[in-house]
Amino acid sequence: MVSVLPLQLLPDTAAVDSSGKLSIGGCDLSALAGEFGTPLFVYDEAHLRSRCREAVAAFPDGVAYATKAFLCGAMARLAHEEGLLLDVATGGEIHIALAAGVPADRLVFHGNNKSPSELSRALEVGVGRIVIDSMVEMDRIETLVAAGAPSPTVLIRINPGIEAHTHEYLRTGAADSKFGITTEGGAAEVAVEQARASSAMDLIGIHAHVGSQVFDVASFERAIEVIARFAAPLDIEELSIGGGLGVAYVEGETAPTIPEWGKAVIDAAMAVGVRARIMAEPGRAIVAQAALTIYTVGTIKEVPGIRTYVSVDGGMSDNPRPVLYGSGYEVFAPLSTTAERTRPIRLVGKHCESGDVLAWSAHIPDAVKVGDLLATPVTGAYGHSMGSNYNMARRPAVVFVEGGNARLVVRRETDDDLLTRDLVAGSPS
Ligand SMILES: Cc1ncc(COP(=O)(O)O)c(C=O)c1O
Repeated sequence: MVSVLPLQLLPDTAAVDSSGKLSIGGCDLSALAGEFGTPLFVYDEAHLRSRCREAVAAFPDGVAYATKAFLCGAMARLAHEEGLLLDVATGGEIHIALAAGVPADRLVFHGNNKSPSELSRALEVGVGRIVIDSMVEMDRIETLVAAGAPSPTVLIRINPGIEAHTHEYLRTGAADSKFGITTEGGAAEVAVEQARASSAMDLIGIHAHVGSQVFDVASFERAIEVIARFAAPLDIEELSIGGGLGVAYVEGETAPTIPEWGKAVIDAAMAVGVRARIMAEPGRAIVAQAALTIYTVGTIKEVPGIRTYVSVDGGMSDNPRPVLYGSGYEVFAPLSTTAERTRPIRLVGKHCESGDVLAWSAHIPDAVKVGDLLATPVTGAYGHSMGSNYNMARRPAVVFVEGGNARLVVRRETDDDLLTRDLVAGSPS
């Protein structure tokens, strides 16, 4: 198979010069690799802002950025500046958002097992909304408020027994989930009644998140009908449909745009007579295509008659998605972006794990050799945020590029960073 990189997978400001060199935000990728080293996450700031603006326009009642997709101080600030709320799912995400200067009342606190100490901090700082995921959590809030904590504004996350997938829509199976309070057997109604009767919280809405990487807006339309049917008799103020809008990762995939998604959801809600505010929480759709990762080729190994392994200086520690989900990625050489990719390879990392794969089945230009740069597009979501220190890998730097300037927003980890929590090897001798 011979193919060239589908340029629509690149960030909005991507530009390729006549020699095939790629720049993003006016910054040449090879120069970025030279200055900041590899592996390197490069985010197109204009692309991020544009997707945030689309989301705000598509959901005029309010929209949150799901920080689990990618979080650092710069991203928290950018989403806040663009008018989004921030969906946070742990005390750690709350901490980063607050440290970045996002006001607590702009945070929406999620999670199926919020600890008493996480909840206590959330109440004390005054997070805007807590999305209650279980009766245990409701009891925890009751206890904290009884002990003097401020009472929160809450939504209840229901599990409506539906799940939207990339190309399918399942009615069964989704009830078997750790998230949310099931509508089956009336458990969700009981939760709503209990929250309403409680003086420890102000219930304003219902939340449901029906899937991730969903390519078909019809799935959201059908989901909203089910959720709206549950919510209608409750006369609530707010209905959040969570996140989940898919993005194209590889050649041949197409996904709805944020405006298309918003219109489908809001039209479907109107059609079934929803009067509540319609909110959403995109993560991936805001950040995934805004970034790519640059690597340096370290070794090339031919296994005659079977395949060629190209090893780069990162791996599952900066992008675990291929290992976790079998996800596919494109691979290209950013110095010859438009070159025909003729050589079939498997792109692998440097970790001590046979499954340490970045692209299971990719093609690269024949001329690529040890020492060259390779890049994987659409790595802005669930790469950096799901990264690890496996093999004591030093996690990569993150740069935001715009108007010819590269802003280092997360520096590369150092060997000393690896020792900061080690109370034996890390203590001064
Ligand atoms: C409650 C909730 N909201 C929003 C999101 C964001 O989803 P996505 O990044 O697919 O838009 C998730 C993802 O797991 C989620 O669980």
